[in-house]
Amino acid sequence: MANTESAKEFLGSDFEKYRQTLNLAIRSDESYLDAINQYVVGRRGKEIRPVLSLLAGMASGNLSSENYHIAAATEMLHTATLMHDDVADAANMRRGALSVSAMFSAGAAVLTGDFWLARSLDVLIRNCSHEILSNFTMAIQKMSEAELLQLDKADSLDTTEEDYFKIIYGKTAAIFCASLKSAALAAGADQERTDAIVRYAKNIGLAFQVRDDIIDYTPSLKAGKLPGADLKERKITLPLLGAFANCPRQESRIKSRIREIVNVFNGKFTKEEEDIVAEVSAFVMENGGIEYSTRKMEELSSDAVRSLSVLPDSEAKNLLADFAVFVGRRDA
Ligand code: IPE
Ligand code: IPE
Ligand code: MG
Ligand code: MG
Ligand code: MG
Repeated sequence: MANTESAKEFLGSDFEKYRQTLNLAIRSDESYLDAINQYVVGRRGKEIRPVLSLLAGMASGNLSSENYHIAAATEMLHTATLMHDDVADAANMRRGALSVSAMFSAGAAVLTGDFWLARSLDVLIRNCSHEILSNFTMAIQKMSEAELLQLDKADSLDTTEEDYFKIIYGKTAAIFCASLKSAALAAGADQERTDAIVRYAKNIGLAFQVRDDIIDYTPSLKAGKLPGADLKERKITLPLLGAFANCPRQESRIKSRIREIVNVFNGKFTKEEEDIVAEVSAFVMENGGIEYSTRKMEELSSDAVRSLSVLPDSEAKNLLADFAVFVGRRDA
């Protein structure tokens, strides 16, 4: 089974070129910004998006210099959205340490996120085609729309499964699609191979977020983020939708309990609110919410693997297939 470390070893100097591109692109002479950047770069994430982007280019064609820029822009954009996300979600923990908003301030996190976002677009403008740039601006638009739909649903609590998949497509899968599609184009892939890579990206991106939402309900797996965060944000995710599907008569009672969580944006929860989170989590665990979500996630992973069938056999293709399985088993 692939993991990001073994794939990084396989990518070798190609991965190094991506990292150098990123490190160069975020340099600033502004000392406060530079200090925040050091903090962020010192706590790297899994870098799954640049790994998949480089592998997608290799599996569908031949890497060109554009591919390193696409991989760097992808991780920079992702990192920007995490800084913004922790402000939107009032989240204090990220990658096992204080989030930028908790360590510095919400303002600093928003502005540093803006800097990383601008620099990621600059990397694309200088090195890639308009089509590639437009793939990324479309993903940013989808992400913003999805995050706002998610906020709206945290208020109304009427999330359907269709809404849920629309939200996770926009907030998570869209960047996988933009990055891997752009990687295939930069590697000279034809239409058939590009379509296959986009289908793979969409399905693995959706599976990745479903797994994130399962991890949120499974404190023992929770590496680097606080458990139960989604309920505290009043987010109705797939594990809870699955439990509702299995036990519909409890749905309105559970929702009225969630409605009692009011301290969503100041992050200071009362004992009563902590009790509600524990009660709803127990409801999810006891009514098959995790199993329901795992089944859906495995369907998405299988679809991702199937979409690779039109690509010629290669080690990069094998690793992409392994990753479709890995996202469903990851615990961080
Ligand atoms: C976190 O993404 C945000 C989601 C889409 C769930 P990752 O789990 O890839 O975060 P890092 O970059 O490895 O920390
Ligand atoms: C991740 O959503 C999507 C992003 C655009 C960052 P979450 O809010 O679930 O991400 P985590 O769990 O905080 O990483
Ligand atoms: Mg969020
Ligand atoms: Mg969050
Ligand atoms: Mg999450």
